[in-house]
Amino acid sequence: MPSRGKFIVLEGGEGSGKSTQAALLTAVLDAVLTREPGGTAVGAQLREVLLGRGTTGLSDRTEALLMAADRAQHVAEVVEPALAAGRHVVCDRYLGSSVAYQGHGRGLDPDEVRGLSLWATAGLLPDLVVLLTVPAEVSARRTGGARDRIEDAGTAFHQRVADGFAVQAAADPDRWVVVDGTGTKDQVAEEVLAAVRDRLGLDV
Ligand code: TYD
Repeated sequence: MPSRGKFIVLEGGEGSGKSTQAALLTAVLDAVLTREPGGTAVGAQLREVLLGRGTTGLSDRTEALLMAADRAQHVAEVVEPALAAGRHVVCDRYLGSSVAYQGHGRGLDPDEVRGLSLWATAGLLPDLVVLLTVPAEVSARRTGGARDRIEDAGTAFHQRVADGFAVQAAADPDRWVVVDGTGTKDQVAEEVLAAVRDRLGLDV
């Protein structure tokens, strides 16, 4: 039996460089790269409902349940089988995004939102969460004009999301590492690799 792979999650707000860094880290680790919402065929349909500008009137609890449903399918179909087969998995957003966006952002109880995702995933937590932080101005500049339904939610919402990520990182410092995302792509990548080396003992 291969030894179990490591589950590494990149979290952060819009324009934090998460997706770029997830791709770079995946190449170095020869990992499986995936993302939420939308990492499976069922998830792609849920993603359209969740983020499509055509969706109107979605209640906060429905949004939280659909994010959790996407995660349940994703863990069952992609993440857990890959880890069990000994592959490392790099995931662009996971449970921390639900706690930050649906909990702190939308105003649902963050512990309940977390509990919902833990139920959905049969308790699967990442081995490491890298939180990329950038000031709101940098985020706005990087994301430019095109916005999805959630990106459209306004400045106060996104400030609560950022606070929600910071609270989670502070509450679980063994699992979370905060990396300043304002540097160059290569500088940030080096910091991400350093975290993977130090926290997980991987030879990268
Ligand atoms: P995405 O297009 O993947 O862009 P990015 O990750 O680069 O911002 O957008 C995913 C959106 O879904 C983003 O606005 C955050 C939101 N989201 C939640 O609200 N809750 C969640 O649990 C997840 C995984 C994502």
